[in-house]
Amino acid sequence: MKRRLEGKVAIVTGGGSGIGEAISKRFAAEGAAVVVCGLDSDPVRKVVDEILQSGGRAVGYLGDVSVEEQAEDCVQLAIDDFGKLDVLVNNAGVFPATAELDKYPVEAFEYMIKNNIYTTFMMTRAALPFLQKTQGNIVSAGSEAGQMGSPMITPYGGTKAWVMSFSKGLAVEQAKYGVRVNCVGPGPIDTAWTHKETGPMDSKMEKNTVNGVPMGRRGTPEEVANVYLFLASDEASYVTGATYFVDGGVTLSKSLPGEEVPSHLKQQPSPSLPLKHGKDGHAEIRQEVAGTMNHGL
Ligand SMILES: NC(=O)c1ccc[n+]([C@@H]2O[C@H](COP(=O)([O-])OP(=O)(O)OC[C@H]3O[C@@H](n4cnc5c(N)ncnc54)[C@H](O)[C@@H]3O)[C@@H](O)[C@H]2O)c1
Repeated sequence: MKRRLEGKVAIVTGGGSGIGEAISKRFAAEGAAVVVCGLDSDPVRKVVDEILQSGGRAVGYLGDVSVEEQAEDCVQLAIDDFGKLDVLVNNAGVFPATAELDKYPVEAFEYMIKNNIYTTFMMTRAALPFLQKTQGNIVSAGSEAGQMGSPMITPYGGTKAWVMSFSKGLAVEQAKYGVRVNCVGPGPIDTAWTHKETGPMDSKMEKNTVNGVPMGRRGTPEEVANVYLFLASDEASYVTGATYFVDGGVTLSKSLPGEEVPSHLKQQPSPSLPLKHGKDGHAEIRQEVAGTMNHGL
């Protein structure tokens, strides 16, 4: 049977850790050549090596794609190495702080504008001329927080609402070129961000985040990658302007329904991908990246 991305070329930003690692590996396993893009401090090289070792095609791009020239370089790498571009996944993002707004660090707000919004804008802008040539598509990372708003992380939800709104407008604008544009809206996923040991949530927020999910558990990176795969593939040929939530039902949830789910129904599915970097994510302000904010922010 033909693999679902056979012959396609994809860029996955933030592809070195968490959900991005799963997207990169899932796409490669389905036949795509993948440009795995991340910051110098991300395990991009390891993910590329792991894909190559399993017989896939991949190359790494190390750089900060919120910067126009680096976004253009990343896209050019796909063209130079693989000859074209079919899919752009705007998955790069950051989640550096939780606080009520009057105490929310301005630096963390700017950091999210840079790494959640500028990255998506710059990569989309650089990729579109090539996606128009292939009638390709874009899938970007929204969030349930972008749909519902979330206390303690209100600016984060705002950046994700921007991504979701941006994608809808772009879907209409680009349809005449044959380019589809969609979003995935994850709920709480089992990456560095949703654990108090590796992210900015305290234990109360972590517990309420999981118990607020009707299914009573975090999603896995692979469960999210499966939906990216569908939207990026030709199977979704009539889907554009959509946001597909992968959230265990949390966008419909009130109170803490997850508390009522028995433990045997909270088990995550067994993984089929060899994921190793789920908790290597970016959940704090990294000074070397903050220092490259050159947008007058
Ligand atoms: N984890 C969740 O619960 C969750 C929920 C909703 C949405 N999301 C979205 O999914 C995406 C991935 O989240 P994750 O949990 O896997 O986090 P993660 O930190 O593991 O992955 C994000 C990656 O993006 C990279 N990145 C950030 N800024 C960059 C830049 N300027 N240039 C290049 N790379 C950059 C990071 O260094 C990191 O490797 C994010 O966009 C996030 O908003 C995650």
